[in-house]
Amino acid sequence: MPRHYLDNAATSFPKPPEVAQAVTEYLQNSGAPAGRGAYREATEVARIIERCRQSAANLFGAPDPRRIIFTFNGTDGLNLAILGICQPGDHVITSTWEHNSVLRPLRMLQETHGVDVTWLEPDDSWRIDPQQVAAAWKSQTRLVAIQHANNVIGVLQPIEDIGKIVREREGIFLVDAAQSAGQVPINVASQAIDLLACPGHKGLLGPLGTGLLYVGERVSEELLPLRYGGTGTHSEEDRQPAELPEKFESGNLNVPGIVGLDAGLHWLTQQGLSRVHQREQALLQTLWDGFSALPHVTLYGSPPATVGRTGVVSLNVQGYDQQDAALILDEHFGVQGRAGLHCAPGVHRSLGTLSSGGTLRLSVGALTTVEDVQAAVTALMSLG
Ligand SMILES: Cc1ncc(COP(=O)(O)O)c(C=O)c1O
Repeated sequence: MPRHYLDNAATSFPKPPEVAQAVTEYLQNSGAPAGRGAYREATEVARIIERCRQSAANLFGAPDPRRIIFTFNGTDGLNLAILGICQPGDHVITSTWEHNSVLRPLRMLQETHGVDVTWLEPDDSWRIDPQQVAAAWKSQTRLVAIQHANNVIGVLQPIEDIGKIVREREGIFLVDAAQSAGQVPINVASQAIDLLACPGHKGLLGPLGTGLLYVGERVSEELLPLRYGGTGTHSEEDRQPAELPEKFESGNLNVPGIVGLDAGLHWLTQQGLSRVHQREQALLQTLWDGFSALPHVTLYGSPPATVGRTGVVSLNVQGYDQQDAALILDEHFGVQGRAGLHCAPGVHRSLGTLSSGGTLRLSVGALTTVEDVQAAVTALMSLG
């Protein structure tokens, strides 16, 4: 039975073949650490890492590649951004629709570090109205943390308008781009983003264990590292270097992962983001149209044509526990989605799916095929 992987919102699969080739080539023939040796392989690794930084900077419109920090996943970058900025007495504006990787560090700061947090609720179209951000502003507001695309229903937030409001008030704007990087255009300058966190293993097509944090000029001095240690630079000093990226990159990097991420970003650049985006939107529409015709399926969120969304669809199959439905889809049809709360309890509270255990989520990626989405529609049809 062919495998139809539709869990790209968790991590992308398949990756472009060049990703595995690059990782294998590195592990078999190099294995050198980055920035810690003068021999040929170490220099070559340093070159690949800087190329990867540059590709990411290009993708996000970041002026200087040194502002791209390698992290180990999206959560790691979000923790660095949140815990590295917030001080007791600060006020933070965020939404109840954030992923647990934003909700949990903020809840911890609120409960144990004297950080004041305002939790905004989305409107009827599941978007945060930028005016809500303006209305929640206080004199101590330091940080606004909002996701770009939601991981349960894919809705895109108006980050450009929110960014404008934050910049006018001289706050810091953190965007969680876990579900949008590599799928939707992002420009840190025009969207007034100070901190942008994303995994390398979803839309950027790198291996698991990779992530990025863009650190803007306005915040690089005040942002504190989470990890201190060896950087391969200023080794005579027992103080952490102030320069980027070393300030935030202590210890050996995940070089096998970054080499793969470099290949993923190269593939994305060659394809062109707008082409990848359009393909995913067409696949999303096929899924949506196919599922809308099934009377036993409840779809969540607005139709793709009416609102900006990424290729994520959440649904409920009536008469089934959604975990059972996911198991049947996999075992009988090779269709692989994910049922549950997707680390986003606030979303399910709003959708009314919290007490029933969440939704069944199917999500497309850059290498998903028309056959994959058609197999999903056929499989769900047979559960009626
Ligand atoms: C919206 C959102 N934020 C953050 C994350 C965390 O990313 P990672 O799994 O790479 O830590 C995810 C992952 O699913 C996500 O969907």
